[in-house]
Amino acid sequence: MQNHSRNISDIIVDQNNSATFQSPLEEGSKSGRVVDPCIVVIFGATGDLTARKLLPALYNLTREGQLPSHFACVGFARRQKTHEQFRDEMRDAVSQFSRVKPLDENLWSSFMNQIYYHTSNFDEDEGYEALRKFLDDLDKQLGTKGNRIFYLSTQPSFFPTIIEHLGKHGLIYDTNKEKKKWSRVIIEKPFGHDYDSGIELQQFVLNHLAESQIFRIDHYLGKETVQNILVFRFANSIFEAFWNNHYIDHVQITVGEEIGIGTRGAFYEEAGILRDIVQNHVMQLLCLTAMEPPASLNAKAIRDEKVKVLKALRPIDLSNFNDYVVRGQYAPGYINGENAIGYREENNVSPKSSMETYAAIKLYIDNWRWAGVPFYLRAGKRLPKRATEIAVTFKQVPKILFSQGEQKIENNVLVIRIQPDEGISLRTNCKVPGPSSPIQPVKMEFRYGSYFGLTPPEAYERLICDCMLGDGTLFARGDEVLTSWEWITPILERWHESLPSDFPNYQSGTWGPKAADEMLARDGRAWRLI
Ligand code: BG6
Repeated sequence: MQNHSRNISDIIVDQNNSATFQSPLEEGSKSGRVVDPCIVVIFGATGDLTARKLLPALYNLTREGQLPSHFACVGFARRQKTHEQFRDEMRDAVSQFSRVKPLDENLWSSFMNQIYYHTSNFDEDEGYEALRKFLDDLDKQLGTKGNRIFYLSTQPSFFPTIIEHLGKHGLIYDTNKEKKKWSRVIIEKPFGHDYDSGIELQQFVLNHLAESQIFRIDHYLGKETVQNILVFRFANSIFEAFWNNHYIDHVQITVGEEIGIGTRGAFYEEAGILRDIVQNHVMQLLCLTAMEPPASLNAKAIRDEKVKVLKALRPIDLSNFNDYVVRGQYAPGYINGENAIGYREENNVSPKSSMETYAAIKLYIDNWRWAGVPFYLRAGKRLPKRATEIAVTFKQVPKILFSQGEQKIENNVLVIRIQPDEGISLRTNCKVPGPSSPIQPVKMEFRYGSYFGLTPPEAYERLICDCMLGDGTLFARGDEVLTSWEWITPILERWHESLPSDFPNYQSGTWGPKAADEMLARDGRAWRLI
């Protein structure tokens, strides 16, 4: 990693543009906002994300009347396919993956007519020239007015090629000259694969796009439960007073998944879980948990506070590396009583792979609020269950009144369950009714499902719609992504230098390697049983 603290600010030339975005947290912000007619072009349209998330999201936006009536979606990919074949595949995908079932046939037949397919290689000039003409024709037929979203859902190595070709063929508009129509680019994560490549990609995209045209997606930010972290912290007066090192013992952030890497072997062999989930999703959860109250709810103020958290992260102590970082890879095992193969047996994975599918990190945030409070982060594939949560453990009460004899007083724990079973719980201690007065931990519970009685929209619905509105609050800003890379990269480098000798080191269906338990045990703590 090169000398870089100067670089980040040098190349974030346009971050203040985001100040014009209105935050979705601001009261009534959506009301009265009208989505412009537009065309969404999805690069990598034959991939998993399009089928599982993007098309179901567009379908649900249509179902809820949130898409403009003048709208089209064009799939762009290398495989030869007709519009009809693509529509049939997307019909199956939406039936299988839409959050609302069954598929409404009447709605589907009108939605289907807005879906198209364009075959081309990502580096083929003729393909982009033909795309430009095709989109212009659609504008004439459908009244989409030249507005475009280009969604880059390909292998990350194609991002520069696609952006360059979009620019070269007039598909990206110059924001200084073009005021009547807009073009925006959604870039999937990971944005770069380490700090230096992140900087390089950032410089590259800023040569072709204004920051206000770039939407770096981290779909965790589109989740209702993630947005609620700020509301929970800052719309309730009772929490701020004890949200600090005087009262908090430690914080655990878990992103656990039952699933393995499925069909994404090739991607995982390049990425690993640190790049796939920790550098982005886990870091976002960390920032929202630890940030100071922003001066206002506008996008810039919120993003500025998140970046301050990242800048205050204490660099990992490389001389005691194993006390702070643990990596793991899943071996065969059982998930819900079914056999599960090991990572090295997955398709497109080397039988000797040293790529990690589990990571646990202990970190400190060196600022006044969090001085001395450890944050324990963990993310893993093939764990016993899918569970993403933030657990804030409070300090013990003084051992004066109730800690006599066998009586053990548990710490209070506040758990923000991001998914599934979305909600918030607070563990307190309570007297068991009766004369002998034993004390037992009990839980106060809030559950989204039972309280609001509705399925929250998928993160991608919210984010695609926000991009159509030009609202970047729930997308990551360039310096946010780069500062996160800056902190994570020494871990990647260390891992790269010394390959693991014990992989695979946890059985599928267990909570990760023993070393991760030992890391907490050394501090007299344990991972929460979820
Ligand atoms: C994606 C990762 O960003 O998030 C996947 O690439 C992971 O590996 C997924 O499975 C998890 O998303 P969610 O919304 O199911 O938590």
